[in-house]
Amino acid sequence: MKILLLGSGGREHALAWKIAQSEKCEKLFVAPGNAGTGEVGTNVSLKADDFEGIRDFVLSEAIDMVVVGPEDPLVKGIYDYFKQDAELQSVPVIGPSKQGAVLEGSKDFAKAFMQRHDIPTARYQTFDGEHVAEALDYLETLQPPYVLKADGLCAGKGVLIVPTLDEAKRELKEMLGGMFGQASARVVIEEFLSGIECSVFVLTDGKDYKILPEAKDYKRIGEGDTGLNTGGMGSVSPVSFATKDWMQKVENRIIRPTVDGLAQEGIDYKGFIFFGLINVDGDPKVIEYNCRMGDPETETVMLRLKSDLVDLLEGVATQTLGKRTVEFDQRSAVCVMLVSGGYPEKYEKGFAMTGMDKVQDSVLFHAGTALKDGVVVTNGGRVMAVSSYGADKDEALARSMRGAEQIQFEGKYYRHDIGQDL
Ligand code: AMP
Ligand code: GLY
Repeated sequence: MKILLLGSGGREHALAWKIAQSEKCEKLFVAPGNAGTGEVGTNVSLKADDFEGIRDFVLSEAIDMVVVGPEDPLVKGIYDYFKQDAELQSVPVIGPSKQGAVLEGSKDFAKAFMQRHDIPTARYQTFDGEHVAEALDYLETLQPPYVLKADGLCAGKGVLIVPTLDEAKRELKEMLGGMFGQASARVVIEEFLSGIECSVFVLTDGKDYKILPEAKDYKRIGEGDTGLNTGGMGSVSPVSFATKDWMQKVENRIIRPTVDGLAQEGIDYKGFIFFGLINVDGDPKVIEYNCRMGDPETETVMLRLKSDLVDLLEGVATQTLGKRTVEFDQRSAVCVMLVSGGYPEKYEKGFAMTGMDKVQDSVLFHAGTALKDGVVVTNGGRVMAVSSYGADKDEALARSMRGAEQIQFEGKYYRHDIGQDL
């Protein structure tokens, strides 16, 4: 099979690494990819949301399957674009329809969907700029801290957790006043849930689903989960509190009602579902849905997925997922993200990277890298995910730490405590 993978981050390198191991994969292209995806496939200089460019490429290379990494092309409707094109409609796109991607693209839609299908989540209400007074009244009924969410996509910046009522009222007015542009024209106000988070991933063909290894990500820049939010500083899989019993609750109360709910509502969804969960006194609740895999969770999930990913994706495309099996590697996996100095605020790019050849015990997934005159250089805030197996998470972390020390570039920063809170 000739496969085109869209995207350019650590998630895409991890997916590419796994896809390339499959005997079913004859040729892998990644658009636009990074210096790492170029080692396991062929990079194509096309943006992931350049639908016309992708169309021409798929036809000229006779691509058999398109796998979508990031949410952006899905929210913009790449699935529907293929379905509506006479020449492209036989080429499966792994990812939901535009309507399905609204689970991630609109927080209000996701909350209403959960309410319709009795899926456990925080109590909430949604308000627009015409109902500021009602929104302020609703805030009064909640306990601090206050959770305010812009309805639309804001590159991970649209959620505010505010300690006092006065601040919440002020932020709410600013959000409804256009703080995040059109994305915050509507704001979801919800009850604060206290607990530890866990990311659960599912592949669905619209009828059946398969649960992939779960993972926990570490979003804050500083050790001990302090400081600014980032795109993710590392991940660990498995997650100790995601026991068999807990995962059974997740499946019965959350996964199955979600997949069935999508089918009942006639929403075309063939792809990954990412359940952002929180464990509240032993009970899982949904914080958010994403219509794609997580980053940096994919870097540990792919390490722990023993089964052939292309076989599973084929099952999604042909709606025969029920007949496939998913096996997990029993080892632990930890990924530590090397980031540019200054990230998530201002940082410089273009620094030469060395030492990757010295790393023996880890898989290096490139995130923000590029090749410049044959040299790998930094090309983003999150640069490289040093990912390792271990008999347990401590051994896996120790290996990633060794790898993280061996790789050199100006301004390198990383956290040393990934997985240590569990
Ligand atoms: P979201 O974009 O919805 O995942 O929110 C971003 C982050 O805000 C989540 O990963 C949580 O850490 C936090 N968060 C969101 N909603 C809540 C909530 N209702 N209670 C507590 N924390 C939340
Ligand atoms: N790691 C969280 C995300 O990918 O949204």
